[in-house]
Amino acid sequence: MIELTWPDLLAAQQPRWPDEQALAAAVNELKQMPPLVFAGECDKLTEQLGQASRGEAFVLTGGDCAETFAANTADSIRARLKTVLQMSAVLTYAASLPVVKMGRVAGQYFKPRSKATETRDGLELPSYLGDAVNALEFSAESRQPDPQRLVRAYHASGVALNLIRAFTQGGYADLHQVHTWNRDFVRDSVAGQRYEQMAGEIDRALGFMRACGAVPEEFARVDFYAAHEALSLVYEQALTRIDSRTGNPYDVSGHFLWVGERTRGLDGAHVNFAATIANPVGVKVGPTASPEEIQDVVERINPLRIPGRISLITRMGAGRITETLPGLVQKIDASGHPVVWVCDPMHGNTYEAASGYKTRLFDDVIGEVQGFFDVHRRLGTIPGGIHVELTGDDVTECVGGTEGVSADGLGVRYETACDPRLNREQSLELAFLVADMLLKR
Ligand code: PEP
Ligand code: CO
Repeated sequence: MIELTWPDLLAAQQPRWPDEQALAAAVNELKQMPPLVFAGECDKLTEQLGQASRGEAFVLTGGDCAETFAANTADSIRARLKTVLQMSAVLTYAASLPVVKMGRVAGQYFKPRSKATETRDGLELPSYLGDAVNALEFSAESRQPDPQRLVRAYHASGVALNLIRAFTQGGYADLHQVHTWNRDFVRDSVAGQRYEQMAGEIDRALGFMRACGAVPEEFARVDFYAAHEALSLVYEQALTRIDSRTGNPYDVSGHFLWVGERTRGLDGAHVNFAATIANPVGVKVGPTASPEEIQDVVERINPLRIPGRISLITRMGAGRITETLPGLVQKIDASGHPVVWVCDPMHGNTYEAASGYKTRLFDDVIGEVQGFFDVHRRLGTIPGGIHVELTGDDVTECVGGTEGVSADGLGVRYETACDPRLNREQSLELAFLVADMLLKR
């Protein structure tokens, strides 16, 4: 077993908890809680991610930038799940590839920030750090970190995961429901119509199989995994348990944990925490990372070179990806490390619109994914998946798409607690475009 050395290392992006005793009490409470996920499920995910590293599957991760307690409702969770299921149906059907489905859900309550404080009208307060730490509302009281929020985040995650398990195991995710997922959706939107047509084809294929006497088990249930950024190490450590079967430590707060762009330093606590847990993990990689430092991080986290154990989630920006990605891919490829290459086309493309809203252009999102596929095709390496911020609702947070959210219209329904998300229509449109790229891969 790997020695747990990381608690002595410097952890970036940690809140300043005002009351050490209250923090210790919350952490103790978390230590008593049952696991949210099981080691066996994490191992299964690692195996499926291993398939993605070889091009035998494709990873789709989607969900909020920051989950909130207020939006942890049945309607909101179902809408997000439905969006990912629809996208997955498009990718699976069009590209004939199994899709590994993950949500930024049931634990995505922690946010790293570029600035520690936020100033409005001369008042400077701590930045919003996610609902597990403080509240979004701009007041001194709301922005004060409260450790009981860690406990609340655990319970909220359990509630979300319970609903997701019920939906995905209890018939809602059955492929025969492929039309139902679209029922309340703008069928007259271009992507919605295209989806209906495809769902009709899937239905006919299912009918044919049924008539032949084949009703595979696999159609009734889907694996859906919970992913979040492992940012708060007190939270993640409190939920790390030794698996009695293997003797290995698993972080049971979620199936897949990733280390963010701001905390991926080789000698930082986050990377070394990730190295100690047996879950599959991700590392975000931005345009300023050097291929050498990322190779060292990969080596530190996955010295045994287990396929699927580590995903490199690149977020370069549409304008820079063809210049920054090739060197990184070549370096890692030459090292022989079996990583999953995942494209996050969101975080390198954020800007502030004239109206003051933080936004992203749908065209930049598509541009980065296209650049990602182009680079991998040129190098003969495998584009293994995408990681996007989306919601199942009809929000107006990203500009563009066929139905055209305009820069002027951002205020109509701008609800995110952090970064702008693709709405359902934009998400589906993205899925169709990625399916085409996968076919030409
Ligand atoms: C995120 O995924 O919300 C995030 C903060 O990403 P990054 O670490 O890549 O900036
Ligand atoms: Co984000």
